Amino acid sequence: MSVVQAVPESQTPLLEMRGISKSFPGVKALDQVDVTLHPGTVTALIGENGAGKSTLVKILTGIYQPDGGEIVVSGAPVHFANAEAAIRSGITAIHQETVLFDELSVAENIFLGHAPRNRLGLVNWGAMNARAAALLTSIDAPISPYTRLKDLSIAHRHLVAIARALSVEARVVIMDEPTAALSYKEVEDLFQIIERLKRQGKAILFISHKFEEVYQIADRFVVFRDGRSIGAGMLSQTGQDEIVRMMVGRSVEHVFPKVDVAIGSTVLNVSGYSHPTEFNEVSFDLRRGEILGLYGLVGAGRSEFCQALFGITRPSAGTIELEGRRIDIRSPADAIAAGIVYVPEERGRHGAVLQMPIFQNMSMATLGSTTRVGFLHQAEEFALARRYAERLDLRAAALSVPVGTLSGGNQQKVVIGKWLATRPKVIILDEPTKGIDIGSKAAVHAFMSELAGEGLSVIMVSSELPEILGMSDRVLVMREGRMAGMWQRDGLDAEVLVRAATGNM
Ligand SMILES: Nc1ncnc2c1ncn2[C@@H]1O[C@H](COP(=O)(O)OP(=O)(O)OP(=O)(O)O)[C@@H](O)[C@H]1O
Ligand SMILES: [Mg+2]
Repeated sequence: MSVVQAVPESQTPLLEMRGISKSFPGVKALDQVDVTLHPGTVTALIGENGAGKSTLVKILTGIYQPDGGEIVVSGAPVHFANAEAAIRSGITAIHQETVLFDELSVAENIFLGHAPRNRLGLVNWGAMNARAAALLTSIDAPISPYTRLKDLSIAHRHLVAIARALSVEARVVIMDEPTAALSYKEVEDLFQIIERLKRQGKAILFISHKFEEVYQIADRFVVFRDGRSIGAGMLSQTGQDEIVRMMVGRSVEHVFPKVDVAIGSTVLNVSGYSHPTEFNEVSFDLRRGEILGLYGLVGAGRSEFCQALFGITRPSAGTIELEGRRIDIRSPADAIAAGIVYVPEERGRHGAVLQMPIFQNMSMATLGSTTRVGFLHQAEEFALARRYAERLDLRAAALSVPVGTLSGGNQQKVVIGKWLATRPKVIILDEPTKGIDIGSKAAVHAFMSELAGEGLSVIMVSSELPEILGMSDRVLVMREGRMAGMWQRDGLDAEVLVRAATGNM
């Protein structure tokens, strides 16, 4: 199936990629794809995890060299030998795994590689900090240019990445899943920035797995499937079902296949859990088979609370009972031993060992319980990995390839699999489907439901309302570190949750 609709005549392309191919050992990531970007237009690049989106971005920004095909900017063929060459042609990107440096200041991160210099060729710090401050103000980022990056939240780091992309004079701005770490308020801010870039005549390539966003901000779309261009056209003329069919080659029926399971007795009781700065007096019961949604704005203290529950940080007050017994969690090892595991939001950094093969990553967390070594052990590791890979719809050339070679979404599935394999009593999933495509999302949700049916209790932190509404038996809303309310599944209402999260009661 190939759908190509006409683009209005007046729009001469700013950038054309024609017949671009790229292979990695064992994988043809891109097979003669075509993408056209127009001035003042947002083009959405849509495709499943591993479809080749980020690979295209890396070719367009000079990070990878294509094996074949050509790139034409304003009618002239170009060749990007490196990232600087792409920037010189006016192409800038916010990458999916943005590389920022913890030890450097915000301003240094924004201008790394292209800092303003004085006549002697030395970095002009005054000018750099002033320009960084102006850029941050222009995107309404409440961040000082002098702050060390390591002191920023994930959402604020993201704003730094956006400022960095806008710090070069660009005609083409690429955003690879820019909203994955943002709450809806910050997404609105980002969309205003995009609107402004559009009015300035820039061509924007926008990558997201969230259809609401794509329809809200993009004008055109391009769909990739398995490294090939499947279709392109105007979003105003194309329904979501049609795009999903192009993407996965079938229709996806249930994104939230929530199965009502019998909810059992209390597994976990958290009482008065507090932290000196991040959260205060959090109390709730969690029962067998229950999925508790934890909703709130980015920065509401949800992740910090979960990290304390997992022993990464220490609470200043409060108690935890597991199956009626008081337990003291001083470290992640204590939590794991008790049967509580945590899949963090920032999985790239905390979740997987990128150089290690998939199967070893998946069995890593369970190794303590299976101490046998050698061949048999590896066979077991493989069997376990195969089971979870299937259930999570993992797309990889083989289970022996390093996790670092997988697409962003597939890396996340490995980390989720790794923790589920420990067969915990309570699993805390922080933004479980962030960056996961619509088909795989359904697979992850189905798997969550099934495990709940087997008695697993789930705490699901999510900033996506449809996911919270679709999957939760109960929803706890947090605002500014405190509980703003708790709702049962039958009483769930999107507006009420948003009001509780924002404080507009
Ligand atoms: N450096 C690499 N080495 C080996 N294989 C790679 C490398 N980079 C990407 N691949 C493979 O190329 C394919 C496309 O990956 P890519 O990251 O472009 O997908 P994507 O569409 O961005 O997916 P996602 O939505 O999960 O981010 C995948 O099969 C991936 O495993
Ligand atoms: Mg990607």
